[in-house]
Amino acid sequence: MTSYRPADDRYEAMPYRRSGRTGLLLPAVSLGLWQNFGDEQPRETGRAILRRAFDLGITHFDLANNYGPPPGAAEEHFGRALATDFAAHRDELVISTKAGWDMWPGPYGDLGSRKHLLASLDQSLRRLGVDYVDIFYSHRYDPDTPIEETLGALASAVQQGKALYAGISSYPRSRTRDAAGILRALGAPLLISQPSYSIFNRWIESGLLDVLEEVGAGCIVFSPLAQGMLSSRYLDGIPEGSRASRSGSLHPAMVNEDTLARVRALDAVARRRGQTLAQMALAWTLRDTRVTSTLVGASSVAQLEENVRALEHLAFDDDDLAAIDGIVPPA
Ligand SMILES: NC(=O)c1ccc[n+]([C@@H]2O[C@H](COP(=O)([O-])OP(=O)(O)OC[C@H]3O[C@@H](n4cnc5c(N)ncnc54)[C@H](OP(=O)(O)O)[C@@H]3O)[C@@H](O)[C@H]2O)c1
Repeated sequence: MTSYRPADDRYEAMPYRRSGRTGLLLPAVSLGLWQNFGDEQPRETGRAILRRAFDLGITHFDLANNYGPPPGAAEEHFGRALATDFAAHRDELVISTKAGWDMWPGPYGDLGSRKHLLASLDQSLRRLGVDYVDIFYSHRYDPDTPIEETLGALASAVQQGKALYAGISSYPRSRTRDAAGILRALGAPLLISQPSYSIFNRWIESGLLDVLEEVGAGCIVFSPLAQGMLSSRYLDGIPEGSRASRSGSLHPAMVNEDTLARVRALDAVARRRGQTLAQMALAWTLRDTRVTSTLVGASSVAQLEENVRALEHLAFDDDDLAAIDGIVPPA
């Protein structure tokens, strides 16, 4: 039995943006479970973050086969939360998963083959305890597999009712246009692309957003806080328990003096705007309305709440934008 009752006002403050020219609306802030939802994190913390997210109007939760650690753990934890807290709310949720990065040993455990994608999706459905996911992604472009094979697997997943929509992640611009055409022809139009994007990483501004607009697909951007560097997390060094302190995706060498000087200067701009740096960094990723949603991570309820409050001040004037460009020049 669940003791969780979602907030009655959960749909009052969150803006929902249309994913390209599709029918699907996504919350302007979505929550990713790449880290902080594995076996090493207290289960109750993750559960509290998920509940609070839903109370704040976050309807979209982003997973992948290999999120953890260990790989698969985030889907298992999310599946348990779904069963205990959200069982009555499945139709209010957009759950995504992905396949394409290392998942199991041998030649079928990663990349872009039909064999990998469809076997992985079946595993994900079992771990999540659901009949379908809302979005199934090809997690990365695989140049050694015919793109028609990879995308054909996504279309099969949609036709089999195991996914409602098809997505691609970290595909380069030209392959994105190809993918949209192929998926349209296969009857499973491209819903969305998931690229990295932050003040420190502006590659999508050089054409990807134009392509997505042209083909009518949405864009959900990952690591908008540059894994925490675009927040107050590292202003006074690398704290115990932070992502940079753990061996993994954010190497401590990335938190260097040059980066920190920029972070402090950005922090001053954020304060002038009356926001925290994390809030400004998230608002900044949403300033182009072709970005459907910004996909944030959080290791505590407090971080999540701070991040969602970014939505209270989304507008940027020319001076703010010029100040940010002066600190981190556009690509
Ligand atoms: N498609 C892909 O290939 C791909 C790749 C990467 C990520 N993603 C998706 O994008 C999601 C987000 O990625 P990400 O976790 O790198 O995003 P992020 O938002 O850039 O970084 C999240 C981390 O920043 C710190 N943080 C968050 N809010 C904070 C705040 N208010 N104050 C201080 N620190 C704060 C936390 O680090 P601490 O742990 O140090 O507290 C948190 O774990 C993932 O969960 C996943 O769903 C997709």
